[in-house]
Amino acid sequence: MIDLEFDHFCRLVHERSGLVLGPEKAYLVRGRLDSIARTEGLADVAALLALIRKVAPDRLIQRCVDALATHESSFFRDGAPFEALKTQVLPQLLAGRNPPRPLRIWCAACSSGQEPYSLAIALNELANPQVLRGIEIIATDFSEPILAKARAGVFSDFEVRRGLTPERLQRWFRDEGGAWKITESIARMVTFRPHNLLKGTTGMGVFDIIFCRNVLIYFDPERKRRVLESLAAALADDGSLFLGSAETILGLTDKLETTPGARGIYRKAPIISAQRAG
Ligand SMILES: C[S@@+](CC[C@H](N)C(=O)[O-])C[C@H]1O[C@@H](n2cnc3c(N)ncnc32)[C@H](O)[C@@H]1O
Repeated sequence: MIDLEFDHFCRLVHERSGLVLGPEKAYLVRGRLDSIARTEGLADVAALLALIRKVAPDRLIQRCVDALATHESSFFRDGAPFEALKTQVLPQLLAGRNPPRPLRIWCAACSSGQEPYSLAIALNELANPQVLRGIEIIATDFSEPILAKARAGVFSDFEVRRGLTPERLQRWFRDEGGAWKITESIARMVTFRPHNLLKGTTGMGVFDIIFCRNVLIYFDPERKRRVLESLAAALADDGSLFLGSAETILGLTDKLETTPGARGIYRKAPIISAQRAG
């Protein structure tokens, strides 16, 4: 690959997705983009990058970004956040609200849907009518192909075995002969929408719970800060933000603070609450 074209491509991907690529990732770029080059009738990845530099076709750039993003996910990933939601975060939130109001939950960077469906299953299992009344779960990702898979709600044997107990599989999925479809009652609770985290949260509204897990790790510190601050702005004053186990707010922003005794769960720092009230 010619350095100039590779550098240009890395900059484009960074602007659009936040994904940081460098010379050490050249092998990954080549591996992931090879089939795109071939389906576009091009000789190789170098020819693809040359075309992108010359013509910058939006559709092709987005296809490359999709191919380079990591869409790894699993049901009830890491376990503990879902338990904390059920046993700690929601009970506290509900106890503090009188009169109650319908919950709004945002699952940002939701990938193929395992995370928002796990949330919907966990909330159903609480069997608390106050939790489910009027609840909205918005699940977003910037990749249209991955959202299409999420909306379909069909998972392979391998995917359902990662994180689902046999009881949950039997209760919440329908066997479609080699594949498993999420039941209608869970699917109905989740609305999937395209959204790029780098574009801020204007128009998303205010959320009681935000899950934004295992995506900040791919961003540089400045983009992490911007994304965290826009999530803080979209969080209700008594809301909670859940990050991935390898992610933190520390050293990045003072608009959020840790929740005592709850690893990976953050809430708005009081200063923002005061600003909004004022
Ligand atoms: C590793 S998956 C995490 C999925 C899920 N949150 C979990 O923890 O299992 C990361 C997802 O972030 C999405 N993503 C990457 N950059 C993004 C951006 N700038 N805006 C929105 N989604 C993004 C990718 O398409 C991918 O599906």
